[in-house]
Amino acid sequence: MATVAEILGTKYPLIQGSMARISRHELVIAVSNAGGLGVLTSAGFDKEGLREEIRKVKAGTDKPFAVNLMLMMNNIPDMVDVIIEEQVPIVMTGAGTPKPYMPALKEAGIKVIPVIPSVKLAKKMEDLGAVAVVAEGMESGGHVGETTTMALVPQVASAVNIPVIAAGGIGDGRGVAAAYALGAQGIQAGTIFLTADETPVPDAFKQAVLEANDTATTVTGRRSGAPVRSIKNPMIAKYLELEYSGASRDALEELSLGSLSKAVFDGDVENGSVMAGEIAGMVNSKRPVKDIIEGLFNEAEAVVKNLKITY
Ligand SMILES: Cc1cc2nc3c(=O)[nH]c(=O)nc-3n(C[C@H](O)[C@H](O)[C@H](O)COP(=O)(O)O)c2cc1C
Repeated sequence: MATVAEILGTKYPLIQGSMARISRHELVIAVSNAGGLGVLTSAGFDKEGLREEIRKVKAGTDKPFAVNLMLMMNNIPDMVDVIIEEQVPIVMTGAGTPKPYMPALKEAGIKVIPVIPSVKLAKKMEDLGAVAVVAEGMESGGHVGETTTMALVPQVASAVNIPVIAAGGIGDGRGVAAAYALGAQGIQAGTIFLTADETPVPDAFKQAVLEANDTATTVTGRRSGAPVRSIKNPMIAKYLELEYSGASRDALEELSLGSLSKAVFDGDVENGSVMAGEIAGMVNSKRPVKDIIEGLFNEAEAVVKNLKITY
């Protein structure tokens, strides 16, 4: 079986998870140039906006990169057209099935790697022709499932014959080594890139992540069926209060509408949604992307070398 790095065409078996509004060309270029796979978000872009972002990435790196499609969005056919026209090498999918688009993407030679929260979906994606799956645990920032990385990864790895890439809660070399021990052949990370020098978010957003500890995040939207993990703040407290007092969907939507943009573009970390994973407590410095990626794999090698199971 091809290794994950061979499938991705990268030096490291590492994917920078797509981050809505955040993983724009600046971050993608930095990750791909550092030997990982940068993943461009398509959220918030129209067809020509996405094309422009893809072209900026191509101008900044000659290394492979991917585009993320959140399949519940209503402009997906347009986005797929641009991805094919611009010959993007890899597509990462989430929040739905890529089935309708698989024939066209395959014919264009584009690899599809879905992000999945369960064994059932992993098997379905393998059947559809995915080249690998990302098994994402509920420690992750952003939209989450119900199963932890620790429990999900080995079950998915035992269930499919394509490579499994672990996501959720990976913050240093120990996390990388653990992912491999659980049966993964590569990793995807999001939260550790939030404070990277090249990540295009305001300082207030980075500061909120730097100040977060191990219990700083929580999940909203469990009741409405669209759970999201972010750092606790006054807006999140209000949301949870409304959610658990049985408020209407409209009231919840009114509170959360545009909340990610408030945090990502305006730096409003009180009323905006600062999405981040549980591992935010270990993100304590602003560093270049290259240092983050190299650190992960250098540390992982040392961890494995010194690992000893004692009785
Ligand atoms: C701020 C933020 C936004 C995210 N947005 C998306 C998204 O739009 N699409 C997606 O598939 N995953 C999204 N994710 C999940 C990441 O791609 C990745 O799987 C996750 O961050 C991995 O877990 P970690 O946060 O513990 O590293 C997001 C994560 C964060 C932190």
